[in-house]
Amino acid sequence: MPPRFRSDLERIQPYRPGRSIADVAAEFGVQEVAKLASNENPEPPFPEVQQAIAASLGGLNRYPDNAKPDLTAALADHLGVGPERIWCGGASNELTLISALSMGGPATSAVYAWPSFELYRIGSLAIFSDTLEVPLDDLHRHDLDAMQAAIRDDTTVVYICNPNNPTSTVVAGDALERFIDAVSDDILIVVDEAYHEYTTAEEYRSMLPLAMERSNVLVTRTFSKIYSLAGLRVGYAVTAPQNIAQLRRIQLPFSVSNLAEVAAVEALKHQDRVAERHHANRAGIAYLTSGLRHRRSEVADSQTNFVYASFEDAAAVNEGLLQRGVIVRPVIPDGWLRINTGTHAEMERFFMALDEIGVRD
Ligand SMILES: Cc1ncc(COP(=O)(O)O)c(C=O)c1O
Repeated sequence: MPPRFRSDLERIQPYRPGRSIADVAAEFGVQEVAKLASNENPEPPFPEVQQAIAASLGGLNRYPDNAKPDLTAALADHLGVGPERIWCGGASNELTLISALSMGGPATSAVYAWPSFELYRIGSLAIFSDTLEVPLDDLHRHDLDAMQAAIRDDTTVVYICNPNNPTSTVVAGDALERFIDAVSDDILIVVDEAYHEYTTAEEYRSMLPLAMERSNVLVTRTFSKIYSLAGLRVGYAVTAPQNIAQLRRIQLPFSVSNLAEVAAVEALKHQDRVAERHHANRAGIAYLTSGLRHRRSEVADSQTNFVYASFEDAAAVNEGLLQRGVIVRPVIPDGWLRINTGTHAEMERFFMALDEIGVRD
């Protein structure tokens, strides 16, 4: 007899990471692979960050300080927020899952938009008794009215992905504030701002100030994107201290490694480099968007480091790209692909591959 795993696990599709470079190179026999599939930063971590990591290797025999004092202090300073409101973790994934573990259980439901970041679905299906998925509006944005209408008496958490993955769109700050005002105080509103540093839209506003004022708003951010530290796993949330006290009860000890803390502290010191990456990304987004629109794709206005683009036969385009060593991300619903900014050479390869496949002007 096999071990008796929960039978409801069958409902959960495991998280599908973008295909790895080694995997695609081996399967399709291509020498060079451009990976534009996981919304990573194409540039390596800042040189100062790499040096700080190298200088800390000798301390790896020790457990990290579980209170993450250096990172908490650096974030408090950077954000202008009291350290008691900062909660660090093994990137936004861990923070999101712990919010689900601590808000879910029997007779609870979670509300989130769909399509959105897959972890809301995975965490909610595993932990809540019901998941209430609310379709995006026609412009691929959160439909906040419909989300408000979906909230039930048993709802304990609402996830807002702003900007949204996979569609790259934002909801306006005013509308989001009105939504937060209207939601009952006993529901935790998790605002996932993984792509915050890439935004430029005037209507976008971070909900960090609201996380300072309201007791039921939690904003998550990450070092995985603009700071180029996806491989190290470190992120943070800002929320009321009493929420952090609850969430920490079930956080794994030491989930932010020594190296991750050192790297994140150093990365925060280099806001000039962050600004450079922001500008490089905007140029990449403009290049991808105009090139795809010329090829008659519908492309959502991106506020992130990726574009969401429609294709007549997205599955065939995806396969054709893989054969040519270009990895992008097929997304739900069918007909759309998600492509992140790469180096200029990588994005040129993407367009050359599209030309070969026959997706032309
Ligand atoms: C919206 C969103 N949130 C969270 C994450 C997870 O990021 P991490 O766990 O690396 O912080 C991602 C990753 O792509 C994302 O797109």
